[in-house]
Amino acid sequence: MAAQTRDITDTVVAVTGASAGIGAATARLLVEAGARVVVQARRKDRLDALVAELGAERVVAVVGDVREPSASAALVTAAERAFGRLDSIVVNAGIGMYGGILDRSDEDLQMMMRTNVEGTVWAVRAAVRSFREAGGGDVVIVASVAGLRGGADEAVYAATKFAQVGLAGALDREVRPDGIRVTALCPAGVETEFAIGAGRTEGDPSLADYLRPEDVAFAVVTVLRQPRRLRTTQWQMWSMDQGS
Ligand SMILES: NC(=O)c1ccc[n+]([C@@H]2O[C@H](COP(=O)([O-])OP(=O)(O)OC[C@H]3O[C@@H](n4cnc5c(N)ncnc54)[C@H](OP(=O)(O)O)[C@@H]3O)[C@@H](O)[C@H]2O)c1
Repeated sequence: MAAQTRDITDTVVAVTGASAGIGAATARLLVEAGARVVVQARRKDRLDALVAELGAERVVAVVGDVREPSASAALVTAAERAFGRLDSIVVNAGIGMYGGILDRSDEDLQMMMRTNVEGTVWAVRAAVRSFREAGGGDVVIVASVAGLRGGADEAVYAATKFAQVGLAGALDREVRPDGIRVTALCPAGVETEFAIGAGRTEGDPSLADYLRPEDVAFAVVTVLRQPRRLRTTQWQMWSMDQGS
């Protein structure tokens, strides 16, 4: 008997880092799939444009900085207020600053660590609190292949992504009995604004080989659509033109 795809119509999904790149593409695909979405980022104008594009009846924006625990609490509260519940969270907000270990300022590295690691912790805690009360939910963390094997000139970025992968694996063991599924998505390079001017250069021809934000959005929606009896703990993604 073929496994049934889970219907995600009208489910409520929070997406962090939705003002650009993977997060915006994920919000778009989720709405196309019939879900309702609560989007978060710092840039209000970008979020407002996304709401205008996708429709205020299905998308709600919450401006916030994921480095602050209160922003994650506000995200969950907004979902519950607007749509009555939260079913899933896509923990996607993140920054990359590449270079040798001595090349970046302490402040830059601290910002990356706080955004990618602490931001993930706060988002996960707020969501799990809500999912436990509801009897289940999905946590999808957009980590990276850099969270499985770090390359030269990305030691601290890789450390933040290893932290996300480690958190996802441990959390899966903790919250599976509560009906909560945890997935670490590990894409290779994706063609977005990510790290442009901080290790990547706009128009770099190698970006053409990269995954597209829509590819990662496809993975998010696929993970959420798994029948409830299944879970994917880790998904490595590469384009056919990217070496592993
Ligand atoms: N692009 C790649 O090659 C690649 C590969 C693997 C994994 N990833 C991961 O994918 C995720 C998304 O990256 P992307 O490629 O889509 O990059 P992007 O286009 O630069 O988008 C990053 C998003 O994160 C948000 N963000 C950054 N700092 C934030 C903060 N302190 N508080 C709230 N939101 C914040 C940004 O919004 P605001 O600036 O408006 O706050 C933006 O919406 C990241 O976690 C990244 O590590 C990327």
